[in-house]
Amino acid sequence: MGVSKQQAMFNKRTKIKDLLSSGVAGQETIVMGWVRTFRNNQFIALNDGSTNNNLQVVTELGLLDDATLKRITTGASLKVTGTVVPSLGKGQSIELKATHVEILGDSDAEKYPLQPKKHSLEFLREIAHLRFRTNTFGAVFRIRHSLAFAVHKFFNEKGFVYLHTPIITASDAEGAGEMFRVTTLPFDNPPRKEDGSIDFAEDFFGKSTNLTVSGQLEGELGAMAFSEIYTFGPTFRAENSNTTRHLAEFWMIEPEMAFYDIEDNMNLAEEFIQYLIRYVMEHNADDLSFLDQRLAEEEKQKPQQERQEFGLLEKLKFVTDNSFERITYTEAIQILLDSPAYKKKKFKFDVKWGIDMQSEHERYLVEKHFKKPVIVTGYPAAIKAFYMRLNDGCEPGKETVAAMDILAPGIGEIVGGSQREERLEKLEARMQAMHIPLEEMSWYLDTRRFGTVPHAGFGLGFERMVQFVTGMTNIRDVIAFARTPKNCEF
Ligand code: 4AD
Ligand code: MG
Repeated sequence: MGVSKQQAMFNKRTKIKDLLSSGVAGQETIVMGWVRTFRNNQFIALNDGSTNNNLQVVTELGLLDDATLKRITTGASLKVTGTVVPSLGKGQSIELKATHVEILGDSDAEKYPLQPKKHSLEFLREIAHLRFRTNTFGAVFRIRHSLAFAVHKFFNEKGFVYLHTPIITASDAEGAGEMFRVTTLPFDNPPRKEDGSIDFAEDFFGKSTNLTVSGQLEGELGAMAFSEIYTFGPTFRAENSNTTRHLAEFWMIEPEMAFYDIEDNMNLAEEFIQYLIRYVMEHNADDLSFLDQRLAEEEKQKPQQERQEFGLLEKLKFVTDNSFERITYTEAIQILLDSPAYKKKKFKFDVKWGIDMQSEHERYLVEKHFKKPVIVTGYPAAIKAFYMRLNDGCEPGKETVAAMDILAPGIGEIVGGSQREERLEKLEARMQAMHIPLEEMSWYLDTRRFGTVPHAGFGLGFERMVQFVTGMTNIRDVIAFARTPKNCEF
């Protein structure tokens, strides 16, 4: 008993965020955190990650001996007891006059890689285990947290059921990307069948398994009972993409709704994105304004014609205040064909009806033409997944599906979704044409056999959403520990 009580005393600390927002002069308090800077042997800027704003701790001359003063270095962790006093310094209303300073953990100034100066994002990626301690990553990851919380809040308020779809899957029908194999078979000498192929019957699950690329197919099973569900979990794609918007492991939010058509789907996705942005604007104002300034400084380094038109906060406000543009794929292609960029041969990839639009095309539409998020519907069936609903009355050879992608300025595709094909015969025909084994997918087809209903859903790439809200240009900077080709540190 005695021991646990003492431990509880140890944690009678005030968070720096709470102290800065409501600290009253005269109050005795304990804070703990890491030293950002130490000036004149007297002023410690202390940070505990609750906010980017440091608490100024003042140690009066004579309070600490020389040996202790030497140990107050950038990165060291401290427990400080003191009295809250009004601050004369700029940018803060209070500070802490220390009565006692305890060093919890030393940080060798010679070896600590984070110095109180601006480091490049590339350098910080190499020390991702320490980068949370910088202002930029503090702001990004508090916002990431808020976004995740807001995702659950949004769907909970709407009565959606949060369904945890599996991470290991035996189905590779989704076709969303290359998969990572999951196996316990020995590499050097796997069991083989008579024809020489590997015998997965001997594998852990008795069949070939992979990490999931999406929770959608299982999500549809849930929607056929709860009407409205969402998944929010990690997904894995083994594509060799080294871009600023691809990860091999990323998080995706996938709502799936019975009794929704493509229109309902678009409305929900738009409302959802605007809700998430509003939530962060309301709850992370300090972090957003820090990132807004950061981005403004970054933009200043660029040549005029490459600069973005809007600042971060302006952009976010604009997106919440204005509805998204809605166009068909056919219209999008026509806009591209009519564009000065196309006429001046500025696009690297060709434009014609039937192409899978490249990032340069998507960015032209949102950044140059519409200057706002755009929802594109009615994509050619040939370039989309088997489960998307075939549009009726298409010209032969020009079949389209009820797909909808949302394209965002600076990001490109942020949402991919569709109304699903609920008609069994049409779905089977499509699967056969795409060589998807009906047998293996019989559990999925059962939803169309027993009480099928019109339904729809979409997937929001969580990291791309965090990029959009924080203005970070590289997706590796919005996930704690990025997994990309040839990169799996930490
Ligand atoms: O367009 P995708 O592939 O759609 C699906 O997986 C559907 N099953 C979703 C659904 O209808 N339930 O992926 C959805 C989103 C993309 O729009 C993009 O934002 C993100 O996931 N995404 C990635 N994000 C980071 N790294 C990658 N490699 C990504 N691939 C897709
Ligand atoms: Mg997509």
